[in-house]
Amino acid sequence: MLSTTPAGASPAADAAYRSVSALTGAGLWDQVIDEIDGRRIRVGERWFVDWASCNYLGLDLDTEIMDAIDPQVRRWGTHPSWSRMLGSPRLYPMIEERLTALLGAPDTLVLPTISQIHLSVIPALAGKGHILMDARAHRTIYDGCVHARGLGATLRRFRTEDADHLAELLREVPPGTPALVCMDGVNSMTGNTPDLRRFAAVCRESGATLYIDDAHGFGVIGEPGPAGTIPYGLRGNAIVRHYGLDYDNIVLVGGFSKAYSSMLAFIACPTPVKEYLKVAAAPYLYSGPVPTAALATVLAGLDVNERRGEVLRAELHRKTGRILDHLAELGVRTPNVSGYPLVQVPLNNAEELPAVADRLLDRGIYVTLAPYPGVPKDEVGFRIQVTAAHTDEQVDELLATLSALGTEVLRRR
Ligand SMILES: Cc1ncc(COP(=O)(O)O)c(C=O)c1O
Repeated sequence: MLSTTPAGASPAADAAYRSVSALTGAGLWDQVIDEIDGRRIRVGERWFVDWASCNYLGLDLDTEIMDAIDPQVRRWGTHPSWSRMLGSPRLYPMIEERLTALLGAPDTLVLPTISQIHLSVIPALAGKGHILMDARAHRTIYDGCVHARGLGATLRRFRTEDADHLAELLREVPPGTPALVCMDGVNSMTGNTPDLRRFAAVCRESGATLYIDDAHGFGVIGEPGPAGTIPYGLRGNAIVRHYGLDYDNIVLVGGFSKAYSSMLAFIACPTPVKEYLKVAAAPYLYSGPVPTAALATVLAGLDVNERRGEVLRAELHRKTGRILDHLAELGVRTPNVSGYPLVQVPLNNAEELPAVADRLLDRGIYVTLAPYPGVPKDEVGFRIQVTAAHTDEQVDELLATLSALGTEVLRRR
């Protein structure tokens, strides 16, 4: 690793670099994984339980999905290599049709990644209009918004989860100017959702378009079910359906790289917007497509979701519940009030993060660290991501480790 940031790097980049350098030494950052065995990973000689994977439904380890790859690769080759503008293998429209039906959306367009979608679609939708961005939106949303600003949009931030502040800023948008509101669905750090009904209503009142990234919700949360349905809802068809909303004035972005353990992303939008994006979004025009294996695992994942999704989500909910209940019993704080499978655990003292990382590794626990400046100093800690493929014994080990750290190290509720 470099000993310093390149000349000209911003003070923020410098601070980030120093913080990450300390963690690399602690062994929970930027590691090479040598082998996996279920939810266990081997780094060098040591085995850990992986609590940093976003494979929420455990589809990365599902043999039905693995078996779906070979026949499609034999049919289509490893990689079609046309940009979508030139031609899309039939697998693409098959995925889009199924996705449109699952989401109950007017139409969908799939592109390789959410990051690419934000960088290309936010500027295309915002034009020279106004963008109102959640002040704590995911970094990839921020990058798309900054790019849009470079192309002529006006960018302002509203306080996170503050729909009143958003309404205030929307009132300041000159009449007749298009406005795009960008925010996260299930938050990648807190595991919570914004009050989407309220945000959608504020946007509709002012004629703004709500652009929402539900990378972590798609596959996990979905439409309400009958009494007795787990709080995640049914079908994993993401936040808009979860809140019982329709797609008027809402553009939903999501991806397959988390719950579906594949690589592909989508925009759910009206057909005219899709047709516009086909000529305006660089990843449709010029990016290489995702490999056939990824398209095959997406299709097989949609099959599995249809047949076994509710069972997998019930397991995910149960295992996450065990962890949240244990934290509550210990009196340890987590921002997670949703029960969704991202559990952030802040420390009492941000400076202790490298030492805590060491203690977690000693006990065979591999988590995502949340260092400053990625999160504010009072939220520095670690994030546990739960998947349906964790075993109950692995959950037991995690609970014992959380007990050992206790409220001396972990923030009290
Ligand atoms: C909220 C959110 N958006 C976007 C991304 C990036 O998704 P992709 O890998 O499809 O670019 C992530 C990944 O961590 C994320 O958490």
